Amino acid sequence: MENLASTTSGVHADLHQRAQAVMPSWLKPFYDEPIAIDRGEGTRVWDLEGNSYLDFFGGVLTTMCGHSVPEVVEAIQEQAAKVMHTSTLYLSEPLIKLSEMVTRLSGIPDARVFFTPSGSEANEAALMLATLYRKSNEILAIRNSYHGRTFATIGITSHKSWSPSSLHGLQVHFVQGGYRLRSPFKALPDDDYTQACLQDLTDVLDMMTSGDVAAMIAEPIQGVGGFATPPDGFFGALKKELDNHGILFISDEVQTGWGRTGDHFWGYEAHGIVPDMLTFAKGVGNGLALAGVVARAEVMDAMTATHFSTFGGNPLNSAGAHANLQYLLDNDLQANAKARGEQFRAGLQPTVDANAGIAEMRGRGLMIGIELVEPGGLTPDPSAAMSILQKAKDHGILIGKGGLYGNVLRIAPPLSVSADEIDTAVDALKSAIEATYN
Ligand SMILES: Cc1ncc(COP(=O)(O)O)c(C=O)c1O
Repeated sequence: MENLASTTSGVHADLHQRAQAVMPSWLKPFYDEPIAIDRGEGTRVWDLEGNSYLDFFGGVLTTMCGHSVPEVVEAIQEQAAKVMHTSTLYLSEPLIKLSEMVTRLSGIPDARVFFTPSGSEANEAALMLATLYRKSNEILAIRNSYHGRTFATIGITSHKSWSPSSLHGLQVHFVQGGYRLRSPFKALPDDDYTQACLQDLTDVLDMMTSGDVAAMIAEPIQGVGGFATPPDGFFGALKKELDNHGILFISDEVQTGWGRTGDHFWGYEAHGIVPDMLTFAKGVGNGLALAGVVARAEVMDAMTATHFSTFGGNPLNSAGAHANLQYLLDNDLQANAKARGEQFRAGLQPTVDANAGIAEMRGRGLMIGIELVEPGGLTPDPSAAMSILQKAKDHGILIGKGGLYGNVLRIAPPLSVSADEIDTAVDALKSAIEATYN
């Protein structure tokens, strides 16, 4: 970490105090001494006290193409100078251009897209469509899932620490999923594991539902859940059973979309399926408030009333997101995510193997999760996660954490991260891990 401006020390402490006076107590920033990021360029950011870091969390997997990408900045500036907002009461060229691109990339046949300002609202829209199309309010979700902060999306979220209320309008059943480390089926090989979870799904359908379920919603790799990754083909096996009942499959690609997993453009592709709907958010706008749902036309058109989102896909966000996705495609960032993810894993594996407190390193592409436990068992160790997070920052790298017990480090840099930056981050993380355990 370069400390460029010791004269500015105390700026963060003052800001923290001001934040505490006017913001909710439950909006908790990372670190004992929280920092404010003042500016960024590519993977690098600078805080208000002049310190510089590599950003390996991207504001929760959202800075997808890097900070201040000139092509994206230019598109936003150009659109802001023309018109920022009109609403869908009028045709919008930027919105239609973006819709053409997103539907084409979605892989869903005869696709239609509806834009919202957040991932939670995208999932709300998907749930609304599924329940209307299927005339049922029964939903299947996966254990250890996270789908948003609104009433209905908290209803399909399977994390006590993210569930302030049990109120929602759905009948939800949670089935076994890909969080293998703590699964009752964890000792089974891949195919048997999938079969055991399929049997669980069948049991839930037979024992707990009316039979008329609207949809299953799943994250191909669970984000907040600590990058829990099922075997390839897992959701393919489950979807066969869903198809037998006409149940829709919604792929929540809020974290896994746009090539982050390296091997695929969408997380669902690892499972040999095409979902009935997919939802996206975060990376699509590289920080602009944009999200949405893609569905086959017959499902999208099941909406029975006027439906409208004031900010969803406004010209400013649409123009910026289009430039962002074009940059992603022009620079084949999916291939970079694959190569850099492999480089990171190879670099950190010896440290993972050498530390009994690390239960496993998992994930795919540039979604890398490291679960920390008390040595000799599986008791979660959130204090080790906190320590490594803090020490990584002291070594100049910002990472994230998550997991059911807050004991999983989450590493997810922009897809444009360079080989040198990966090497620097691996060294910093090794030092942070060693300083925690030795
Ligand atoms: C998989 C997934 N779905 C939905 C959401 C909700 O998105 P938002 O915070 O934009 O409402 C998140 C946010 O972290 C997420 O990770």
